[in-house]
Amino acid sequence: MTTDTSNRDRVFIFDTTLRDGEQSPGATMTLEEKLQVAEVLDEMGVDIIEAGFPIASVGDFEAVVAVAKQVKKATVAGLARAIPADIDRAGEAVRHAQRGRIHTFVSTSPIHLAHQMKKTEDEVIEIITKTVGQARNLIDDVEWSAMDATRTPMDFLMRCVETAIKAGARTINLPDTVGYTIPEEHFQMFKTMREKVPGAEDVVFSAHCHDDLGMAVANSLAAVAGGARQVECTINGLGERAGNAALEEIVMALQTRGDAMPFFTNVESTHLSRASKIVSAASNFPVQYNKSIVGKNAFAHESGIHQDGMLKNAETYEIMTPASVGIKATTLVMGKHSGRAAFKDKLRELGYELGDNAFQEAFVRFKDLADRKKHIYDADIIALVDDEVGSS
Ligand code: KIV
Ligand code: ZN
Repeated sequence: MTTDTSNRDRVFIFDTTLRDGEQSPGATMTLEEKLQVAEVLDEMGVDIIEAGFPIASVGDFEAVVAVAKQVKKATVAGLARAIPADIDRAGEAVRHAQRGRIHTFVSTSPIHLAHQMKKTEDEVIEIITKTVGQARNLIDDVEWSAMDATRTPMDFLMRCVETAIKAGARTINLPDTVGYTIPEEHFQMFKTMREKVPGAEDVVFSAHCHDDLGMAVANSLAAVAGGARQVECTINGLGERAGNAALEEIVMALQTRGDAMPFFTNVESTHLSRASKIVSAASNFPVQYNKSIVGKNAFAHESGIHQDGMLKNAETYEIMTPASVGIKATTLVMGKHSGRAAFKDKLRELGYELGDNAFQEAFVRFKDLADRKKHIYDADIIALVDDEVGSS
């Protein structure tokens, strides 16, 4: 699909299916599966692929190296805690990429500082200076993340961000690690950062939202409105606990509502359905039927009113075309809510032209069957029409 992007700002898509997505309990992928996922992400135009956490295991390190060697267009990122050995290992892995990035993070919220890190604010500031500086000595492209940013007091968060910028970070990610924020608050956080932190104009701000309250995509879009120009997300919303913001939803929201949100991404949306299937198979996570954009029912209609509208003009009940996300066609599902128009259309598709009386009788028998049976297949309709024709 071609969109006029001349008056819109570019939003970079950072996919973390292979890192945060794989952290979903049970979603572990083999090297071969990771390469397949990376291939489709690269083909579709994702800007940054976070390929893993190189220090986590030998397997993770090898996967990041393999993805780095395979990927042609995207930047390949490796995650590292604010620990020298992590940063060295990430640097070693991503140096095989045409464009590599070290993504290093440290917790900033009082609750993490007190219970997880056992560090003071001043100590955290020192850690940021050292670790971001170390990463910059290895590679130009360094991203720094403030873990649990959304539960961090703004004055301290601004101090951390300023420190990371001074130490050489080019991308500043402010994660909603526990999926706690709400859109208005997230918008304000990014807006304040952009307006108040010295050096903010020289870096890209990034949103990384989790879906614990079901607001990861809404929060990501609010972040973009507040000045973020990178969004971190995963295919099918795979990720820790309730998951991350779903890539397909962000891309299609920006594409479909360009009138209200003047932004665009480089992602070719016709790959979305295939990417969803590949990730679902690789992670062994089924996609819920009513999942936005890529669910089995996302372009399916059963009610008579909707089916009638769809047969007249698809825009009556669809805000984007199935083709735009790589799905062949809308499906009008035959069920007890279907009306005459859809039934007639289905008969035509199956090669039947019935006269008025025969059609009426067939329709009554179809409704009767649909009341008893959950799924009506083409074979059921053929059988009931053949019976009808045979008995008349
Ligand atoms: O959710 C989070 O805070 C993360 C960081 C490692 C970026 O995944
Ligand atoms: Zn995360």
